[in-house]
Amino acid sequence: MLTLWKRARIATCDELSRTFERGAIVTRDAVVEWVGDEADLPAGLHPDRTVELAGRWLTPGLVDCHTHLVFAGQRAAEFARRTAGTSYADIAREGGGILSTVRATRAASDEMLLEQSGSRLRSLLAEGVTVVEIKSGYGLTLESEARMLRVARRLGELHPVTISTSLLAAHALPPEFAGRADDYVDLACREWLPALRTSCDAVDAYCEDIAFSAAQCDRLFTAARALGLPVRLHAEQLSNVGGSQVAARHGARSADHLEYATEDDAAALARAGTVAVMLPVAFYTIAERQLPPIDAFRRHGVPLAVASDCNPGSAPGASLLLAMNMARRLFGLTSAEVLLGVTRHAARALGLEKSHGAIAPGHAADFAAWSIDTPDELGYWAGFNPCSMVVKDGAIVLERDV
Ligand code: NIG
Ligand code: FE
Repeated sequence: MLTLWKRARIATCDELSRTFERGAIVTRDAVVEWVGDEADLPAGLHPDRTVELAGRWLTPGLVDCHTHLVFAGQRAAEFARRTAGTSYADIAREGGGILSTVRATRAASDEMLLEQSGSRLRSLLAEGVTVVEIKSGYGLTLESEARMLRVARRLGELHPVTISTSLLAAHALPPEFAGRADDYVDLACREWLPALRTSCDAVDAYCEDIAFSAAQCDRLFTAARALGLPVRLHAEQLSNVGGSQVAARHGARSADHLEYATEDDAAALARAGTVAVMLPVAFYTIAERQLPPIDAFRRHGVPLAVASDCNPGSAPGASLLLAMNMARRLFGLTSAEVLLGVTRHAARALGLEKSHGAIAPGHAADFAAWSIDTPDELGYWAGFNPCSMVVKDGAIVLERDV
C-alpha cells in the first residue's frame, strides 16, 4: 500500500539532520520511499491512502537503546532507604539491589513477567518509542536468562515495537557463585554464550567494583566476539575501573552511564566509533554528583545517545521523555543533541542505523507525531507527553488526544 503523509513539519534526523516546514513522506507498506518538501513530491503519485498531519511535527519513532524493562516486582523499600541516606552501592553489597530483583524475577511466572513488563512497554510506546532494547540480567542462571530473553522477544510480538535484546548475564554475581566470580564468568563464556547466541542481539556487562572487573568483562567480550556477537558495556557509573577502555578495545557498539569517564576514555570511545549512552534518570535517582564528561565527548566527536534505563533500582519508571528532559537540564545537552540521542545515535548503539532512527528512504516507516510548536519542546516538558500519534511499519498504531 502506498501512503502519502502530508502537511507535516518533519525532523528527519538523517545524516544531514534535514527539517522540512511543509513536508511530506511517501511510504510503501512498512518502508519509507521518499521524504522532502511537499512542493517537490514526485509527479504522478497515486497513493492508496493520504494522511493529513495539519502541520504537526513528525520525528522518527524514538529508540530507547538501554532498558532493563523485563523484571518482576519493585524496590520501593530500597528507594525509601536511599532517600534516607543509604547508598545504592551499600544496598548492593548487602545482597539487595539487583539481587533482590533477581529473586522476584526468578519467582515470577512467564505470564506475570509479560504482564508487568508489557505495561512498561506500552508506556514507552505512548511516548512515540518504536524500538526498545531490553536486557536480561535478573535471571543469572542459563535457564532464567534464556527465559528473560524469550519474554523480551515475545513482548515484541505482542506490541508494535521492535525489540533488540542484550544478554546481561554479567550484571551481578549470583549467590550460588559467591566468592567465585571468575568461575561464573568462565561458565558464561564457555556454555551460556554459545547456548544463547541466537536468543540475543548483543552481549552486555556491568563493569564496576560492585559487579565485574575490567579483566572479567574483557574475557566475556573476547568470547562474545568470537561468536560474532556485538558487545556493549555499563561502564564508569560509580567509579572508574577501566570499562571504557575495554569497550573501546572490543569496538563496542556503546558504553553506557560514563559519569566517571575521563578525557582519555572519551578519546578511546571516539576512535572505536562507540556511542556514549547517557542515562540521566539513573544519575538523578541514585543522587550521583559526578557529571559525565559531556564536553570531552563533544570535543572528541563521540556520538551521544540518551536512554531511559528503565529498571526497578536506579531508574524506576518507563519514560524516555523524562530522560530527555533530564539529559538537557542535568547534563546540559542541547535539544538537537537530545533528539539525535533518541533517534539516529540510539539506533546506532543497537546496530540499527541503516533501518531505524531516521526518516529516510529505505528506513522503516516508524514515526511519532507531536503536538508542539518547535522540536525544542522535546526535552523541555517534564512530566507531560505531547505525542499525539505513533506509526509503526507504516501503520497508525496509536492516537492520543493532546
Ligand atoms: O543501568 N548499573 C547496573 N544496572 C542498572 C541498575 C539495575 C538495578 O538496580 O536493578 C543500571 O543502572
Ligand atoms: Fe542499565
